[in-house]
Amino acid sequence: MAVNLKTALGPLELDHPVINASGTFDVLEADTVLEEDLFARFPFAAYVPKTVTLAPRAGNAPPRLYETSAGLLNSIGLANRGIEAFIRDDLPRLALLPVPVIASVAGEATEDYGVCAAMLDGRDELAAIELNVSCPNVELHGRALGLDPAGTHRAVSLARESTSKFLIVKLTPNVTDIVEVAAAAVDAGADCVSLINTVHGMVLDPWSLKPVLGNVTGGLSGPAIKPVALRAVFLVSQAVTAPVIGMGGVTTAQDALEFLAAGASAVAMGTASFRDPLAVTGVVAGLAELMEERGIGSVAGLSGAAH
Ligand SMILES: Cc1cc2nc3c(=O)[nH]c(=O)nc-3n(C[C@H](O)[C@H](O)[C@H](O)COP(=O)(O)O)c2cc1C
Repeated sequence: MAVNLKTALGPLELDHPVINASGTFDVLEADTVLEEDLFARFPFAAYVPKTVTLAPRAGNAPPRLYETSAGLLNSIGLANRGIEAFIRDDLPRLALLPVPVIASVAGEATEDYGVCAAMLDGRDELAAIELNVSCPNVELHGRALGLDPAGTHRAVSLARESTSKFLIVKLTPNVTDIVEVAAAAVDAGADCVSLINTVHGMVLDPWSLKPVLGNVTGGLSGPAIKPVALRAVFLVSQAVTAPVIGMGGVTTAQDALEFLAAGASAVAMGTASFRDPLAVTGVVAGLAELMEERGIGSVAGLSGAAH
């Protein structure tokens, strides 16, 4: 049986359902290090660069990364060179990728979501904009907007008024009810939701018993969070009509299969790319095999099978 891996997120047509998670695969950097001709044979079906903010951000104090028994704890703090540098320096190069490019933006102030969306609206290099609502918000004294439905609604509404691009809202799992937040995002005009961002966590140094991370706490990713993410994708996909991008611990083809079955139309890989930046290639090939073994001929036929 021939398996068709093509999938769609609204108007975005993807050759297969595996994209990268923001902040975990720097194609411009990887292109200088990896032997592969990354731009000609880009392994992900779409490319999402690291989140950018209106002003450059230095990020959090080091150490910023710690490997746990089943995942990665990070407190990068959205270090980035700012949206102007992204548009000027990165976008023209990213336009050479053979796949759709999805910019990721976050706001330190709520109104930044509208300003950033407006700045990207006319850029033909971009197929979509993803709003990362997990950025510390100045008006909320460092609390993320995405931690409640009302804050999410405000950010998404401002972006929606400022762009006609396909709008994806990336949800944080650090909430009481992620379904409520997803519904608020869609109500405010999101075309798609992606989930989950990292899960709040911390680690102590075993000897000093002090927090390891410079920022004290961080965000957990990787295999440890997969069941949390799978539940969120299952619940959100049955509650909203917008397509869902599922992520959180996707490492193997079996993981990708399960996220799609839980209701995602595409999945993203993050932490797994740190161990093997080309792990995606095996996941895509393996996914086709697993689908074939189960007699599932298309992603549409798989998506939501768990329901
Ligand atoms: C080092 C690191 C940096 C990240 N940076 C971002 C970011 O800039 N923007 C964003 O939306 N998510 C960011 N994330 C979260 C991932 O995109 C993803 O949602 C999360 O890690 C769960 O997927 P995973 O378990 O496959 O890594 C980052 C994750 C890691 C590990």
